[in-house]
Formats: sequence, C-alpha cells, structure tokens
Amino acid sequence: MELIDIIPVVRMVLSADGLVCCQGFLNTSEREFDSLEGVKGIDNSITKADCVELRDLDTVEDIVQQLKEQLLNRQEVKAVVVSDFGAILVDQPVETSQFSPVVEGRIIIVTGGAQGFGGGVAEELFAKGAHIVVADLNEEVGNAMVCKLNSQGQSNKALFVKVNVGDSGSVCRMIEQTVIHLGGVDAIISNAGILRAGGLEEMDADTFELMTKVNYSGYFYCAKHASQVMKLQAQIAPRHFTDIIQINSKSGLKGSNRNFAYAGGKFGGIGLTQSFALELMPHNIKVNSICPGNFFDGPLWSDPENGLFVQYLKAGKVPGAQTIEDVQAHYEKQVPAGRGCRVKDVAKAILYVIDQEYETGQAIPVTGGQEMLR
Ligand SMILES: NC(=O)c1ccc[n+]([C@@H]2O[C@H](COP(=O)([O-])OP(=O)(O)OC[C@H]3O[C@@H](n4cnc5c(N)ncnc54)[C@H](O)[C@@H]3O)[C@@H](O)[C@H]2O)c1
Repeated sequence: MELIDIIPVVRMVLSADGLVCCQGFLNTSEREFDSLEGVKGIDNSITKADCVELRDLDTVEDIVQQLKEQLLNRQEVKAVVVSDFGAILVDQPVETSQFSPVVEGRIIIVTGGAQGFGGGVAEELFAKGAHIVVADLNEEVGNAMVCKLNSQGQSNKALFVKVNVGDSGSVCRMIEQTVIHLGGVDAIISNAGILRAGGLEEMDADTFELMTKVNYSGYFYCAKHASQVMKLQAQIAPRHFTDIIQINSKSGLKGSNRNFAYAGGKFGGIGLTQSFALELMPHNIKVNSICPGNFFDGPLWSDPENGLFVQYLKAGKVPGAQTIEDVQAHYEKQVPAGRGCRVKDVAKAILYVIDQEYETGQAIPVTGGQEMLR
C-alpha cells in the first residue's frame, strides 16, 4: 500500500467522533521513532505512549482492524506510526465551535485559489472553519493568500500547493501533498480557469488547446485524482459525503459570441459533471457545477491595465461609452439583479451544495437572473 492510500483511511477511522485533520507526516524510520521526542517538527509532548503502531499493511481492512484494536480504551492518539513509512501526526477533533458546521474541519482544495473567485472562496470557507489548500500556478500570490489566512489566529490551517491543473501528473501530486500534509480530501473546488476571447478568424489552435486543457481537461484531472481518495474515505465512513464542485460560468449555459473556446469548455464541463455524478454517487461523492455570472469586481474585469472594462473601452465595444464606469454600467444593466456576481454569492452556492446530501449532477446558475435554466 502507498501512503496516499493509508493516510485517508487512518484519518477516517480516527474521525469517528468528529473530523480530525493531520498535522503532517514525518518520514522517520522505526529506530528513530523510539526517540520521537525532540525530533524536529514533532511536538515535544508526544511520547511513545501517545502513539499507535501499524505493521504489515496489505489491505484497507488491515489498517482498520489494527487501528480499532489499539484504539480500544484509549483517550487520544497523537501519532500513528506506520512501519516502513513513518509517523502520521494527528490533531484532536474539534469539539466545540464558533464555526459553520457545514465546512468546519473539512479539508477543501481550491484550485486557482490565489486570487479572484477562488481566492475569495478560499477566504470565505477558511473563515467558516475549513482547512484550505490554495492550489495555484502562481506561487507568489498563492503563498501570500495562505500567509493571510494562517495569520488570522484560527485553529484550522491553510496550505499552498503549486499546481498546473492542465497537467494530470501535477494534479496527482497536488492530491498527494494534500493527503500527506492534512490527511484527506473532503471537497475539491475546480475553479482555476483562463479566458482568451476571439472569433474563428483570430483563435489559433494553440490557444484553443491551452484553454481546453485548463478549463475542461483540468476539471477531469481534479475529479479523477480527488475521487480516488474520496472513495477510500467512503469505504471507512459511509455517511461522510464528499464533494467535487466545478466553478463553471453562465457561458456554460448559453453560447458566447467570439468566445467559443471558453463557452465550449464550460458546456463540456457540465457534461462531465452529470456523468461523474452518475458514477460517483454510489460512493457518496456529489458532483455539481456552479455557474456564476460576470464577476465585475474581480481582476478579469476590473484590472486597471488589462481588465475587460479597459479593453472594451479601448476597443469601442460599447457604443457611446466614454469611461470605464460607462462600460461597467452597460454590462450591469444586462443583469436583472443590476450588479455583477460576487464572491459571497458563489460561496453561498458552494455551502448549499456541500450541506445538501440529496443533490448531485446539477449546474446551478448564480447569475442574478441573467441566465435561467430551461
Ligand atoms: N471572472 C468572471 O467574470 C467569471 C464569471 C463566471 C465564471 N468564472 C470562472 O471562475 C473561475 C475563476 O475565474 P476568475 O475570474 O476568478 O479568474 P482569475 O484569473 O482572477 O484567477 C484564476 C486563478 O487561477 C490560476 N490559474 C490559472 N491557470 C492555472 C493552471 N493551469 N493551474 C493552476 N492555477 C491556474 C491563476 O494563477 C489565478 O490565481 C474560472 O473557472 C472562470 O471561468 C469567472
């Protein structure tokens, strides 16, 4: 068995009375384990008496059986030592809480979580007690987000993992890092996405393929690798529902003029969502897409140099518009709710999806009425 198969099982067995999270994994040999006290990275208060040991693991059942036997009559376990691998350091379950019970203690990966919708969602879910993995291509901005979250004095943790969602191997490593550092995956929010607009005459094959790789294949890679861990968790804790959530777009519900590479990938994403949902519901893994309207306050639209408002003003795309405000007002008028989509709107939809046990395979519009389901 590999570590990625062992750690989520251990976490789920230890989570019988409330979700626990791991504090990381220590690659100590068994000989070193005798002197766990004082090993760098380990809480000095851990002694051998605080640990349980697992040996000769061939199957999930071996882990469950050995762990359950050793947990009888024990108050708490601070580390699980796995022979030939090392020590899984464990947090204690949170008992009382000021957080939202929907996501508290859950381990949630947000791809593209450094900024924009993903950054805002990471902040919202962290504030509600989730452990957050900010998984992004942009190391500098992603690390800054994680520092910001971890400096808020909360007991839950944020972790940065560098990933390119357009590369299956990179997504696989992101899941491994999440499992090794935190213990499992309770939800993945496949949010990282790119937009390069253009009609048939301008769009070249390389740009089309890049967008498809990130926006469409990236979602497949996230679902493929995260569901492996989630399935294992469901084996141990059949009432523990997990979530794969794709941040789609209103362009996944209606064609977008001169923007087909984006709309096509998003339409395809809904096909993936419906199909993954059918395959994964037997494992209590829900799969849903959320389709936000335009996020006017985010960098894609409002960046003062390259944002779409500036670009559309310069290109004269909005007849009669003299200023950025004129362009923005033009787009806001197209929304029945009279404003753009905000992070809080998307976060509420995510919380609904995670809270709900009887909803899967949906594409939920969060568009202020601009796009409605037929
Ligand atoms: N901005 C909008 O108006 C809007 C509207 C509807 C839906 N969406 C969707 O919301 C999601 C986020 O959009 P946003 O506007 O917040 O984007 P953004 O450009 O502000 O942020 C995207 C983040 O994804 C990261 N990223 C880009 N490519 C990546 C890759 N290959 N691997 C890992 N990370 C990568 C970037 O570094 C960045 O941090 C996208 O899926 C987008 O399609 C956006």
